[in-house]
Amino acid sequence: MTNGNKKCGRDYVRPGTGANLSMKMQTPLADTARELVADDKGLLAMDESNPTCDKRFAELGIPQTEERRRAYRDMIVTAPGLAESISGAILYDETIRQKTNDGRPFAEVLADAGIVPGIKVDAGATDLAGHPGEKVTEGLDKLRDRLAEYRGMGARFAKWRAVIALGDGIPTRTGIEINAHTLARYAALCQEAGLVPVVEPEVLMEGDHSLKRCREATQEVLEAVFDQLSRQGVSLEEMLLKPNMVLPGLDAPDQESAEAVADVTVRTLLRTVPAAVPGIAFLSGGQPAQLASARLNAMNVRFRGRLPWAVTFSFSRAIQQPALEIWRGDDAHAAAAQKALLYRARCNRAARRGEYGEAMENPDQSSRS
Ligand code: G3H
Repeated sequence: MTNGNKKCGRDYVRPGTGANLSMKMQTPLADTARELVADDKGLLAMDESNPTCDKRFAELGIPQTEERRRAYRDMIVTAPGLAESISGAILYDETIRQKTNDGRPFAEVLADAGIVPGIKVDAGATDLAGHPGEKVTEGLDKLRDRLAEYRGMGARFAKWRAVIALGDGIPTRTGIEINAHTLARYAALCQEAGLVPVVEPEVLMEGDHSLKRCREATQEVLEAVFDQLSRQGVSLEEMLLKPNMVLPGLDAPDQESAEAVADVTVRTLLRTVPAAVPGIAFLSGGQPAQLASARLNAMNVRFRGRLPWAVTFSFSRAIQQPALEIWRGDDAHAAAAQKALLYRARCNRAARRGEYGEAMENPDQSSRS
């Protein structure tokens, strides 16, 4: 056993090995995983890499500087009452090293507010050699050292995103297996280091594929991911899954109702995600914010009381975008942007309860307290 395991006091009995089959797993990591999906809350992904953050800033004419990125994240982490809807926030390497206007590290401010700090640890997706159109995520080199550093900076969970594109002849079996293997290597290293891994295999929305095609691909990807997690000894009680919703491609002629998306998404997950996993926290993938809330709501309405895991959100754009458009790089707009941020977070908490509806959306939402 490694020192990393000893330090975080893990219970070394693996799920499925007998001793703890009938009881709730009581380890610091299992407790953190459950905390992240407790009380109908969800995660806020604020872990955009610098290039991604800069791209979103550029679209709104915001200067793409380290200081503006810091000021934007300051606005988010100091939003009063954020912890009412948000259980955990995912930071980026630059962000976890930054401080608020009054000089406090972001991770500390979040933790003091009752929000678990997390960290994106992948280094982004790059072309998979020999497989045109497919990607593999990098970042395993020296990951053990980086995880130890982030743990020391207050992170209690981590995130790694793998991307799977749909197109002619892709994804290949090789592309799926390589990404699944990599996700499991990351997850095992996280648990060794005392961090809950959020495992994110994202089947992308780009393309004109049908709902059925997305369902088939998502099912194949999740089967491969859980096969690798099992082979590599990842403890299911001590992780979260962050998948895509099952959706037709952005350019598909037939778009589906929130109810149809909810049904096919949950059925796909029921076939593939073991009940030992405490929670599923969806990415938004560029869906409009209101649609993401409506689809999450439909899942929690239609499958109420019938799901083995919590079904929640880990959105970036679907929570942040309205706030970013109000803030626009000007700190004079920070308070109004915070209200918009809190509003979307509240909508998604309501969706987790199955209580979100169009009535929650109205033109003066950003002025609500
Ligand atoms: O890795 C992706 C992000 O954490 C989620 O972002 O909700 O904008 O897709 P998104």
